[in-house]
Amino acid sequence: MKNFRLDIENNVATLVFDLENEKVNKLSFEVLEQLDTILDEIKLNKEIKLLVIDSAKKNIFIAGADIKEIEAFKTDDEVYEALLKGHKVLDKLERLPIPTVAYINGACMGGGLELALSCNYRIASTNEKTILSFPEIKLGFFPGLGGTIRAPKLIGLIPALDLILSAKKCDAKKAYRLGLVDEIFHEGQKEFKLQAFVQNILSYKLKSKKIKKSFLERFAFSRNFIYKKAYSNLDSKVNKDFTAPYKALEVIEKTFKNMTHSDAIKLEAKEFSHLAVLQNSKNLINLFFAFEKLNKNFTKTKNPIKNSAVFGNGVMGKGIIWLFSKYLNEVRIRVRKIEQVQDIFKDVSKIYEHLVKTRRMTQNQVDFKLNKISYTNKFDGLNTMDFVIEAIVEDKDAKKELFENIEKNVNKNTIIASNTSSLSIEELSKSVQNKENFVGVHFFNPVNMMPLVEVIPCKETSKETINRVFELIISSGKTPILVNDCAGFVVNRILLPYLNEAAFILEDSSNVEQIDSTLKEFGMPMGPFILADTVGIDIGYKVSKILNEAYGERMPMSHLLDQLYDLKLLGKKSTEGFYTYKSKEIKVNPKIKDLQNIDRRLISEKEIINRCMFIMINEASRILEEKIVSDAYIIDFAMATGTGFPPYKGGILTYANEVGLEFVLSKLEDYEREFGCRFTPSNLLKQLVLEKKDFSTGEELWK
Ligand code: NAI
Repeated sequence: MKNFRLDIENNVATLVFDLENEKVNKLSFEVLEQLDTILDEIKLNKEIKLLVIDSAKKNIFIAGADIKEIEAFKTDDEVYEALLKGHKVLDKLERLPIPTVAYINGACMGGGLELALSCNYRIASTNEKTILSFPEIKLGFFPGLGGTIRAPKLIGLIPALDLILSAKKCDAKKAYRLGLVDEIFHEGQKEFKLQAFVQNILSYKLKSKKIKKSFLERFAFSRNFIYKKAYSNLDSKVNKDFTAPYKALEVIEKTFKNMTHSDAIKLEAKEFSHLAVLQNSKNLINLFFAFEKLNKNFTKTKNPIKNSAVFGNGVMGKGIIWLFSKYLNEVRIRVRKIEQVQDIFKDVSKIYEHLVKTRRMTQNQVDFKLNKISYTNKFDGLNTMDFVIEAIVEDKDAKKELFENIEKNVNKNTIIASNTSSLSIEELSKSVQNKENFVGVHFFNPVNMMPLVEVIPCKETSKETINRVFELIISSGKTPILVNDCAGFVVNRILLPYLNEAAFILEDSSNVEQIDSTLKEFGMPMGPFILADTVGIDIGYKVSKILNEAYGERMPMSHLLDQLYDLKLLGKKSTEGFYTYKSKEIKVNPKIKDLQNIDRRLISEKEIINRCMFIMINEASRILEEKIVSDAYIIDFAMATGTGFPPYKGGILTYANEVGLEFVLSKLEDYEREFGCRFTPSNLLKQLVLEKKDFSTGEELWK
């Protein structure tokens, strides 16, 4: 049968899932229907005493449900009906009169894990690609094929809540510790270990794995304690507008130990169906597709980057050294003074520490990575490097001088890159002869956490250089976007006007707390002032200045930011900025009041949001108009991953579509009259409104 192969040998049936014409196995409704038929056949075949479910795909068991199907659903009823059919199949699998085993070698996600949970036993290979997880929350729903019901029963309430609500990933060892799988072994041992496992089941020698569950889950009153704690955890981490984790928790609370399986399934399916058709979920799915598209956006090169030199060893330099020590074969660092090396190793090791603590790496593996780093205080050792990147101070002349020196010491194929956050790549490229190999590669801070990288070619950068850099970034676990040269590139060019607008509002109205809490409640990961303090007021000041020089009076710097910089209130690093960080308790800096205008007015939360958001929408629309990026979805993806713009709102331009461009335009015009040209609407925005289009339908206006 298409998609499945059934082999029977010595009374053991092996059902191999091999989705036709696809690299990965996905659980579509068509696949579930086929599985239904096969299960009927297996049930009728008296020769079969045990069923093993396996996959023919490399490094994949089942990657999850087919998200395209979920995206296409229009109504709750459609989803509900389809889900119940799916449930019927997994229930049939669970109730087969013979033992069932899922052999998991590779990714086992979402619906794949739910299928595995419907088997009697699960085995996971210790292949590093073997990951078990429920990632559904990230798409705005929760496991809807029995995951919220079977997982708590199997591994206990607390670990199941942890897996489902936070979409945590488990490798084989963790899955074994949790009791999610019954056996683990290296894939090379499959032949005899799997056979031994199967024989033990058939000869009744296999004892079921004992899973120690918290006694708190035994009684209704103590379960309530667990739920209360889980709700309060969500309150502290999740925006109320993002309902998926709350609904998942609610379903588990209502079903676990309280409902029959069939009632529980109906409730799970009903709540899932509501979530799956909400805009939140559609937005998250679009961002997921954007991620997939951007990560496929290159062709494998003949000469992939295998080693790199890093210049500059401040916050960014150390982050980049860490990244390349993890993913490349060799990292050469250049310091100004040899004494700095110890500190660099200390800080790079610190980033690895977290991976060791969370058991994602062993200390031996870390030591191996650190051993790849060599250092110098000269320019030697560069001629064997494929890639050299600088992350020195944001100063055009210092960088240009450095590039001249680097170019004298590298080979003709070495790519030279700048991690500048705002300087023109075109301008910087003037310092090198071989411009084909010159490119901007803008990582975000902190490098180990931030997934986005902006790649900025100059006019003469070759396609091959761009391709090699894309390949490097993707193989280092990050997502690159191609950005044409302009001051601030995409993220900073949009984010800085937002930070400045918050400060403009503060100058003549409101207070630090109201503005921060309003924008946090809107969904931003933190308020603009705490963000400015975290990044450093000096950095915000410098980038604002560069943007102001490039874009003139339409991108002014707030006087407040200017004053904070002059007073050396630089944020967390100087223990004072918009807030004070002198004691454990963070307080608003009393000095801010003296910097505000005397005649302050009241301002509504709505106005705070509109001014801060619409100024970003306007800038994003100019970026499209100037063809700095090729598509609107790239800006949405960049804002969600580069600034934490609430992903469930889909990104800044999707948010604009939802608010309505006509409204955005009319507000921008009002603000322009009141506050001047920083709000002057972009031509693209005006044109879109004129043609009754938006950022999802007006593509021909910027393509
Ligand atoms: P930083 O101030 O922490 O580190 C700069 C490093 O460069 C220091 O180690 C310093 O000793 C060294 N340095 C200064 N002048 C030098 C010179 N002439 N030659 C060699 N080394 C020199 O700065 P940070 O934050 O690491 O930024 C570095 C670069 O990365 C800048 O271009 C910045 O715009 C960019 N960037 C910064 C981000 C951030 O959030 N901090 C984010 C993304 C990019």
